[in-house]
Amino acid sequence: MAFDIEMIKKVYSQMAERVDKAREIVGKPLTLSEKILYNHLWDGIPSKAFARGKDYVDFAPDRIACQDATAQMALLQFMQAGKTKVAVPTTVHCDHLIQAKQGAKADLKRANETSNEVFDFLESVSDKYGIGFWKPGAGIIHQVVLENYAFPGGMMIGTDSHTVNAGGLGMVAIGVGGADAVDVMAGMPWELKFPKLIGVKLTGELNGWTASKDVILKVAGILTVKGGTGAIVEYFGPGAKNLSCTGKGTICNMGAEIGATTSTFGYDDSMERFLRATDRSDIADEANKIREHLTGDDAVYANPEKYFDEVIEIDLTTLRPHLNGPFTPDLATPVGELGEKARKNDWPLKVDWGLIGSCTNSSYEDLTRAASIAQQAIDKKLKPKSDFGINPGSEQIRFTAERDGLLKVFENLGATIFTNACGPCIGQWDRSDRKGEEKNTIVHSFNRNFSKRADGNPNTHAFVGSPEMVAAIAISGRLDFDPMNDTLLNEDGQEVKLEIPQGIELPPKGFDVEDNGYLEPVEDGSKIDVKVSLTSERLQLLEPFLPIKDSELQGMKLLIKAFGKCTTDHISMAGPWLRFRGHLDNIANNTLIGAVNAFGKKTNFVKNQLNGEFGGVPDVQRQYKAAGIKTIVVGDHNYGEGSSREHAAMQPRFLGVAAVLVKSFARIHETNLKKQGMLGLTFANEADYDKIQEDDTFNFVDIADFAPGKPLMIEVVHKDGSKDMIKANHTYNEAQIVWYREGSALNLIKKQNA
Ligand code: F3S
Repeated sequence: MAFDIEMIKKVYSQMAERVDKAREIVGKPLTLSEKILYNHLWDGIPSKAFARGKDYVDFAPDRIACQDATAQMALLQFMQAGKTKVAVPTTVHCDHLIQAKQGAKADLKRANETSNEVFDFLESVSDKYGIGFWKPGAGIIHQVVLENYAFPGGMMIGTDSHTVNAGGLGMVAIGVGGADAVDVMAGMPWELKFPKLIGVKLTGELNGWTASKDVILKVAGILTVKGGTGAIVEYFGPGAKNLSCTGKGTICNMGAEIGATTSTFGYDDSMERFLRATDRSDIADEANKIREHLTGDDAVYANPEKYFDEVIEIDLTTLRPHLNGPFTPDLATPVGELGEKARKNDWPLKVDWGLIGSCTNSSYEDLTRAASIAQQAIDKKLKPKSDFGINPGSEQIRFTAERDGLLKVFENLGATIFTNACGPCIGQWDRSDRKGEEKNTIVHSFNRNFSKRADGNPNTHAFVGSPEMVAAIAISGRLDFDPMNDTLLNEDGQEVKLEIPQGIELPPKGFDVEDNGYLEPVEDGSKIDVKVSLTSERLQLLEPFLPIKDSELQGMKLLIKAFGKCTTDHISMAGPWLRFRGHLDNIANNTLIGAVNAFGKKTNFVKNQLNGEFGGVPDVQRQYKAAGIKTIVVGDHNYGEGSSREHAAMQPRFLGVAAVLVKSFARIHETNLKKQGMLGLTFANEADYDKIQEDDTFNFVDIADFAPGKPLMIEVVHKDGSKDMIKANHTYNEAQIVWYREGSALNLIKKQNA
């Protein structure tokens, strides 16, 4: 089953009524984003208007997609919910765990050897619970979703930031943490703060060297990496209609780089063409019937300043090609001006690699435009000065590109064709020309270019551009090359110029594939055993968390008083620890090792009150756990900001931390603590943070009366016997207090399903 047309028909059948109702309630014409949001309310027909950027709203997404790194803990948790099948169509995609090195065949073989236990687990758990499984080598999650599952007007969530790519096909598609995905898989609503809306009006038409990628490179330059935070970016205007569907996908994909909740475009002919080309004419037929609901109201687009919170206008006709970087995707520079900037900043001008593909830019149009430049290099006797690497986004696109001779063109230039997987985009790249301390430059058509992102080397300067610009720069081997104006010297010593790239939007002979790498789950999964080895160091089945007894909240010890910034990365570090994402006990060995202890200002160095000795946070905590003593973590402002990874709540919970008391929380982390059955509390009086001392003991004196809106009182007993009574606020509602009393939200779901 590639997609569920009946589900899509249902979404469309209710849309007219809900959109009309929402328009009436909101009292003004609606943007596309609002139409999709109001059509996916958990409570059904809209009954109240929501304040943008303020109200938290429960939604009912249509689909879920997970990638192999984040799916491990999400599915281990889902198994705890006591369900026989996922409540919402879900797919798992094996794309992050495949290292790029020698080329597709050898790399895939190696990945299947080194990560086979993870792939086997994901395949078996998918089969058991009715989840579609895309094998290693089948493609990158977002390209596969765009080709198979995205549909105009739909809402999906995915456990990866670039889930937003599906906005290219008119969805509201949002990247979430595993805990959110588990809720929806288990049949619970998904909560989101009703987003603000940024409108981007596109006029004119792309021409010459300028590509869809340059639209988002420009927008990133305007809005910066934080400018889209909490907002949906909605693109509209005559220019939008002139872009291909996959080009729209590229633009939405990199909306993640400006912090946007997501980005989207209204349904148009380009989307219809893509749906038909990817064998989904039935969706196009259905979408055509409700076309007016799959785009914003005319009145909104005629007067956008009145209806969006912010409006940007870009004329595609005059837009110039850009290269963004290094080290941040919002440092936008028009090609042609980069040489001067690079010289000023001492960025290496010599380019060592040109990388094309990833989930951002591996459409047929992208590959044909880049190949048209590569072919010119061959025809004009230009020997590329940089190495080339290509990461196709899916087996379907790879097979079609091979059939049509596109890959051959790159191979003729000496390119390495890597697996249809993330590879160098996520640091899974064993680079053949390792650079060490030496500053070096690469160009790529991916989305992120933070330090170390591609090859783990902080000395690598990565610049982001369109595939065709990457091809041109890689051929020249120079960051200051401007293909629109500069010439290159060929093997015969002649000066030659690259002509403007030529692309084909969709394959004239249609897409083709022999084995797309998809495995449909069995109808009845009850007989399927989930494959997890008891001796595995990467995977571990979860045990339900036991509810925290009121008596355990007496005589608690301080584990750490975190000083200053404490993000989810400080609480559960990434890097080499990613390997243990599916093994709670092993990954717990990184718990809070990045947090600065307010006493002594060191990381991973806390006092064990049981013996007065100092040690690493996880070690000390494990000693408290062995002694049956619960602990408390104290923190500063915005505790738990950063990624939404649920490990940052699960690990402390697993190790025996019962409460986290801070000046303020990042909201997602606060919710994650609640879901794991812990206490997430804030100081009623921030100055009380200063009263906490290294040898303190904590007694929750009125925990038996834990109730919504009622602060908790904590008696803090200091080493000298003196005491302070601290008031702690909380935001638990009735339902969340039940999660706490049951030990976790999943325990409650399991009980309800029993
Ligand atoms: Fe993979 Fe990079 Fe996309 S990591 S999902 S190709 S952003």
